[in-house]
Amino acid sequence: MGRCPGCHSWNSFVENTVAAAPSRTSLRENPPQELSQVAAGLSDRLPLPLAELNRVLGGGVVSGSLVLIGGDPGIGKSTLLLQVSALVAQAKGKVAYVSGEETLPQIRLRAERLGVKGEGLYLLAETELDVILSQLEGLSPSLAIIDSIQAVYLPELDTAAGSITQVRECTQRLMHWAKQNSVPVFIAGHVTKDGAIAGPRVLEHIVDVVLYLEGEAFSPYRVLRGVKNRFGSTNEVGVFEMKEHGLVEVDNPSLAFLSQRQAEAIGSAVVPTLEGTRPLLVEIQALTTPTAFGLPRRTANGVDFNRLLLITAVLTKRLGLKLASQDIIVNVTGGLRIEEPAADLGIALAIASSFRDVGVDPHLVAVGEVGLSGELRTVSQLERRVAEAARLGFSRCLVPKTAGKLSAPKKIELIPVGTLREAVGVGLRKVRNPSP
Ligand code: TYD
Ligand code: MG
Repeated sequence: MGRCPGCHSWNSFVENTVAAAPSRTSLRENPPQELSQVAAGLSDRLPLPLAELNRVLGGGVVSGSLVLIGGDPGIGKSTLLLQVSALVAQAKGKVAYVSGEETLPQIRLRAERLGVKGEGLYLLAETELDVILSQLEGLSPSLAIIDSIQAVYLPELDTAAGSITQVRECTQRLMHWAKQNSVPVFIAGHVTKDGAIAGPRVLEHIVDVVLYLEGEAFSPYRVLRGVKNRFGSTNEVGVFEMKEHGLVEVDNPSLAFLSQRQAEAIGSAVVPTLEGTRPLLVEIQALTTPTAFGLPRRTANGVDFNRLLLITAVLTKRLGLKLASQDIIVNVTGGLRIEEPAADLGIALAIASSFRDVGVDPHLVAVGEVGLSGELRTVSQLERRVAEAARLGFSRCLVPKTAGKLSAPKKIELIPVGTLREAVGVGLRKVRNPSP
């Protein structure tokens, strides 16, 4: 059918072949068990020799689990997986790395670049899943990698590799194999530009763990984020930096993200955000310039566009800043994305600072959600955020008054503020105040 009779879009039909289910030898082989009688298996975790990855997985990879690592092409999935493979091979013995995208010499070249020696690391360049599984069977590795799920296929399915049917069916087979053999399996999956089709999204409900490797192409930082985890929390992130010789763990991300900050800069504010349970200090920059052709433009890089509009509206209405004739660009440095409203106050400060051409106190961080009447609302885990700011040497922190009594390290002064107006009054460095 060319056109969908439901939504009237053209060429939106996707062929979906259903493969025969694996046959059951006996229909009675799997009776229900009382919960208290169930053995608590599956909990043996293989700790990975890469702390940031361990953190995101919740302390290691569970045996027999299927872990999807999704991300844009070129973001570093293969690099990460090859590094993990080599490290695990060194520590635990055999690892199988199956590549459907690169030839063995190509992988070898990459391995050389990464400084990977590769004892115990077995490479297989193959795309037919049945062949892959039977080879894995023979090798019985302690960890298997499939790079990528879009490249492997089952010939009996009659559709091209990477199609929704193939990707789904192959993932199910791999899941089955992982569980049967108690071997953890990592699969890489590309996120396609227009989102869903045959990308990792269709697999999220099948696999045990979904991690996304994110970052901007121009920035060296990569954030590995847990999206689903059947064996732990999805609150954790791992931070890496892409270098000449592969991905390097960043164990002090706040410091890394702030390293290029100019203390004197106008239109820059530091915000203690929370990535999962991990406090992370980031710099938010704003630039306001007079609008050239009547219609003011707003650009949000790394922050939510609608929140930028909201904050701009509040600054206009409650503080009287004439932003209606200004273009506004907001940028989170390091290529990070900040979704939480806790960054509102920082965004507002950066915009006000640029508009008034007055710097923000360089020793100050700001946290709080901005409400429509210009009030500041409290955010979660304020004390952890403040502690991280203190750890990095900041001496003042704007916090919402409604947060009530907070305990904080001695080195940092908490400044409770009730409204955005008040916060901007305190946060923008007075011109007569000499810079520290
Ligand atoms: P890759 O792991 O191939 O991405 P994916 O598998 O997600 O498609 O990453 C490729 C990019 O990483 C490529 O643009 C070059 C860069 N890179 C480095 O900067 N340093 C390195 O050591 C390696 C191996 C790659
Ligand atoms: Mg790749």
